[in-house]
Amino acid sequence: MTKKLTTKAGQPWANNEHSQTAGVRGPVLMQDYQLLEKLAHFNRERIPERVVHAKGAGAKGVFKLTHDMSKYTKADLFNGVGKETPMAARFSQVAGEAGYPDTIRDVRGYALKFYTRDGNYDIVGNNTPVFFINDPLKFPDFIHSQKRDPQTHMRDDEMQWDFWSHSPESVHQVTYLMGDRGNPASYRNMNGYGSHTYKWVNKDGEAVWVKYHFISQQGVKNMTDEVAAKAASEDTDYLLHDLYDAIKNHNYPTWKVCVQIIPYQAGLDYHDDIFDVTKVVSHHDYPLQEVGEFTLNESPTNYFDEVEEIAFSPANLVPGIEASPDKLLQGRLFGYKDAQRYRLGANFEQLEVNRPKNEVHTYERDGAMADHQGNGVNYEPNSKGGPVEDPNVAVKPAQLHGETGTYKPYDQDFYTQAGDLYRLYSKEEQDRLIATIKKGLGSVDNHEIQVLETRQFYQADPDYGTRVADALGLDLDEIKN
Ligand code: HEM
Repeated sequence: MTKKLTTKAGQPWANNEHSQTAGVRGPVLMQDYQLLEKLAHFNRERIPERVVHAKGAGAKGVFKLTHDMSKYTKADLFNGVGKETPMAARFSQVAGEAGYPDTIRDVRGYALKFYTRDGNYDIVGNNTPVFFINDPLKFPDFIHSQKRDPQTHMRDDEMQWDFWSHSPESVHQVTYLMGDRGNPASYRNMNGYGSHTYKWVNKDGEAVWVKYHFISQQGVKNMTDEVAAKAASEDTDYLLHDLYDAIKNHNYPTWKVCVQIIPYQAGLDYHDDIFDVTKVVSHHDYPLQEVGEFTLNESPTNYFDEVEEIAFSPANLVPGIEASPDKLLQGRLFGYKDAQRYRLGANFEQLEVNRPKNEVHTYERDGAMADHQGNGVNYEPNSKGGPVEDPNVAVKPAQLHGETGTYKPYDQDFYTQAGDLYRLYSKEEQDRLIATIKKGLGSVDNHEIQVLETRQFYQADPDYGTRVADALGLDLDEIKN
């Protein structure tokens, strides 16, 4: 049966093409409240886009555990082989706005939400295992440098390289970004990483450190700058298209979920700082262990409801999974939900896509758009049988050391691992890396920025720095000094 059109308040609607007017030639009548409502609602359709990662694609799916991890964590989703946990994923560009072309070179966001029996667990990572900075205080400055110039409102290579050249901790991630993986062929063809080190705790209170890796079962494939530029001009939604079409054609993308598990004390004593997100932990020392796999098998029915309004946060942790002391991660624990209160409103966790699948019993109340509140007691302590706390899920106590202060990074070797990555690249990939850097850094009309950045490359690997210096026509003696 054909559905009858109604207003948002449910009243039947007689005419949706012609406004009420005084006579056939107008004017329009004030009493046509349906017209007024329609125009007013339209004016409020846009919400603030994400301050970063505004352009993205999302899908729903399921995570299946293939290896029981109860020895390391009591987290429900990692206990019991064969257990399935519903989930949602969103992949994104970092710097561009919501309508930005998908195939511009950029790190890609890789965000997962697991609707576990103990509440929502989010892993909000990227397609690279490291990040540009390791202190949250630098994040707003870093992002300003990647976005638009305050005067011209244009993106500006000089701003980007200016920040990086003065932030040597970025050289590892810059070497990733300027390499082949800086432009994945599709969201299906990239690996994902939790990037930070997290803490897993088992039911006996024993802890290990853990790093997540999501390995694309479609294989890692990248696109050249030429193909990316063509794609950007022909289809600004190239990556969105690819994911949507694959799912429509039942060609469901899958990732293996793997972890590196690092014993607690060994992690604290490791030769690199495992709490510094500009660094990786060697696979040789701590090989990948398979945990399970997830498959994305459903596109959103409504993009706005299920992708624009989805709210990921590194603070969405569940019993058995805890934050590490990683400074950048600690800043992120605050940043996301604060952004979402601004972007979506105080009750964003009541939206269907963000609402946990288990029951929620909280004393938080009211606020704009509050829903699902019930008639229960709204204060604690109480004698009215309200929800009670569960001491079993308290975070594991950790010993802290040192004096308060503002410290430089604990481990200031930003170069060894960047050099390792450079040496890992094939000769052809090194050639493309140098060509990409030449195009970006070479376009910067500022000698100091070029020298500072090339000096970082030289410190990572003399061959790397020498080749960039040659490509940019810089004097190698100035780089070495
Ligand atoms: C999105 C802050 C570092 C991955 C966001 C958002 C904020 C933010 C405010 C928008 C959230 C929203 O409106 O829903 C920060 C801060 C950082 C930081 C303050 C450092 C202090 C990182 C790092 C990664 C990352 C290191 C990856 C390892 C992402 C992803 C999204 C995102 C994937 C998009 C999530 C989605 O699809 O909705 N970030 N971020 N961020 N961030 Fe970060």
